[in-house]
Amino acid sequence: MTRQYCHVGSSTIAYLDSAPGDSTLRTYVLLHAFPLGANQWEPQIRSIPAGWRLITPDLRGFGGSTELDSLNALAITDFADDVVDLLKELSVERAVIGGLSMGGYAALALLQGAPQVIEALVLADTRATADSPEGRANRRNLLALVDREGPSGVAREMMPKLLGKTTRESNPGIEAQVRRLIKQQSPVAIRGAIHRMMQRPDSTALLPQITVPTLVIVGEEDELTPPEDSRRMAEAVPGATLVTIPGAGHLSNLEQPDAFNAALTAFLAKL
Ligand code: MLT
Repeated sequence: MTRQYCHVGSSTIAYLDSAPGDSTLRTYVLLHAFPLGANQWEPQIRSIPAGWRLITPDLRGFGGSTELDSLNALAITDFADDVVDLLKELSVERAVIGGLSMGGYAALALLQGAPQVIEALVLADTRATADSPEGRANRRNLLALVDREGPSGVAREMMPKLLGKTTRESNPGIEAQVRRLIKQQSPVAIRGAIHRMMQRPDSTALLPQITVPTLVIVGEEDELTPPEDSRRMAEAVPGATLVTIPGAGHLSNLEQPDAFNAALTAFLAKL
């Protein structure tokens, strides 16, 4: 799939699109984790169910998408606004919106700001709560690390938390893939995303108000957003389905793509 580009005002939103311009298909959008880019979804791009079109944007600053000139007043809603603009440009009125981790934060921001575009929701390895004070302190350390060492330092620091034990022990190819995805990103994108995540609000109160079908997915070995958090989140959303993926950590879509795709495909088939 080649990257497409959509220009809105002075910014560019890059995205992968499985069926550009095909309005006969239903659309689902997958929003990537920090600090990866749209190519995180390669295993899902290879497994698109019949009748569906998959769009995976590079969130602001990542991949081919531009970041604002100034890093002042950054908010998680920036990511959501870009998704709204992109769907509008593509004349897609409603879509299934899914996000993994930071992508899930963006999906929840979209739910808050533009619920009318959401046909159904997929929240993977993510949480509705805001950062804890300890989490914010870790983010400040990560900002200093980006300044000192750039994306490679971030990859080294984050890797043990991104991948589950099973993957680390038995599938070294995934680690290499994730490191490559992180090293492709710019320090500006990484800094912008850290600031946005640090400032995101608590969205827990939104969960009981969700009226669209919702799928919550979590890797059984996820240490960053543990299964217990996902269970609580799924319980708070009326009618939500929870799928726990054995042998996967935080990046469940890359670590156990078959199980992730099966959960996603079964969910889409029921809509
Ligand atoms: C992610 O995978 O997107 C990040 O781990 C999210 C976070 O740091 O909160």
